Amino acid sequence: MSHAIDLAALPQDFRWGTATSAYQIEGAVAEDGRSPSIWDTFSHTPGKIDNDDHGDTACDHYHRWREDVALMGRLGVNSYRLSIAWPRVMPDGDGPVNPKGLDFYDELIDGLLAAGITPSVTLYHWDLPQALQDRGGWPERETAEHFAAYASVVAERLGDRVSHWTTLNEPLCSAWIGHLEGKMAPGLTDLTAAVRASYHLLLGHGLAAQAIRAVTSGAEVGIVNNLSTVFPASDSPEDQAAARRHDGHVNRWWLDPVHGRGFPADMREVYGVDLPERPGDLDIIAAPLDWLGLNYYFPATVADDPDGPVPHARSVRRPDVPRTGMDWEIDASGIETLLLRLTHEYGARKLYVTENGSAFPDTVGPDGTVDDPERRDYLVGHLAACASAARKGAPLAGYFAWSLLDNFEWAYGYAKRFGLVHVDYATQARTIKTSGHSYAEIVRAHGELGHGTA
Ligand code: IFM
Repeated sequence: MSHAIDLAALPQDFRWGTATSAYQIEGAVAEDGRSPSIWDTFSHTPGKIDNDDHGDTACDHYHRWREDVALMGRLGVNSYRLSIAWPRVMPDGDGPVNPKGLDFYDELIDGLLAAGITPSVTLYHWDLPQALQDRGGWPERETAEHFAAYASVVAERLGDRVSHWTTLNEPLCSAWIGHLEGKMAPGLTDLTAAVRASYHLLLGHGLAAQAIRAVTSGAEVGIVNNLSTVFPASDSPEDQAAARRHDGHVNRWWLDPVHGRGFPADMREVYGVDLPERPGDLDIIAAPLDWLGLNYYFPATVADDPDGPVPHARSVRRPDVPRTGMDWEIDASGIETLLLRLTHEYGARKLYVTENGSAFPDTVGPDGTVDDPERRDYLVGHLAACASAARKGAPLAGYFAWSLLDNFEWAYGYAKRFGLVHVDYATQARTIKTSGHSYAEIVRAHGELGHGTA
């Protein structure tokens, strides 16, 4: 392998995991009482998704989860990060609970535990019940309150076996890409709605954290953000200011409030939108975090763009740098930088890399194998950077590869494959890729290291 990973820098009880989300893998969208989510609506709106793909069947995980748990066993991972579909559990978004929806996750959790795999449960990975969107969605305060009620129901049912909880996955995507850029559900392009959504997502996070803790004991609650390292395209003061704004938009807006620092004043000015604040909200949003999750994929290089959309910072494409099949720049040093920033600037006491991975156009070879050296290199390079951050003091407690399976990659549909396991969507056959085998070797090597040896 091209990078040596300093495995001894990672604690013996390190969580080695894979991650998925409900809408991207489950399918069975109309089964057992599940109602439509905003992603069902969005993906069935012509032109929104490449190839007009949708999640109706996806990886059929709803029916094949036992096979998928067995695959995790073959990878040797000890953890699995999954998300719960709110519209399966509470089809109207609030009100009556759908027992069959909860039963599905109940069985899945039992299956994971029986296989020696610790579940890490995310409550919201973007699949808002459409019924709540019809009542205004995240721009409305009630959605945050309904989210807490839903969190309470799930935690009450699963909390005897699940202790690791994520409230929100990547609220940036829900707010900015879903309400400002319009490229994700619900597909709005409205700055006021986006800023209000961002506020209520974080309020929902705080309320849900309280709700989980109220009905469980020993819960470890965290939030997952997708963060980027940000570089100015030049030394000019304008580009440097743009980089500061972009950092505010993608990083500080999401980190500062949950760390008790309020919403960044400079960004409030950039957005120019009144926050729907009520007394006490900031304390709720700053509910103590047991851990912080980092999803890292790529760095950003930006230039001043005074006439462009907020935050008036245009992404600049750097020539001659390696890229994934998403056209995302590959820079493993970014994950180390961010882990250390969370440690030093935000005082994180426990960190997880909750997602990291790469898409490449894999094919099944004539011998039935899927050889993906680029993904393996990406994985090894980023793991080496994680271990380096840990060596330098980042309290890194786990790494979840995105993703267990190739799956529905949102607006890109099924063309972009992130899995350590290949999925043939025509047959639903699963094949562990070379990168998956490499991951299994790394996990095994770490396990064989023994405790505390350097
Ligand atoms: O597939 C997504 C996931 O749902 C959220 N984080 C980024 C991944 C890759 O784009």
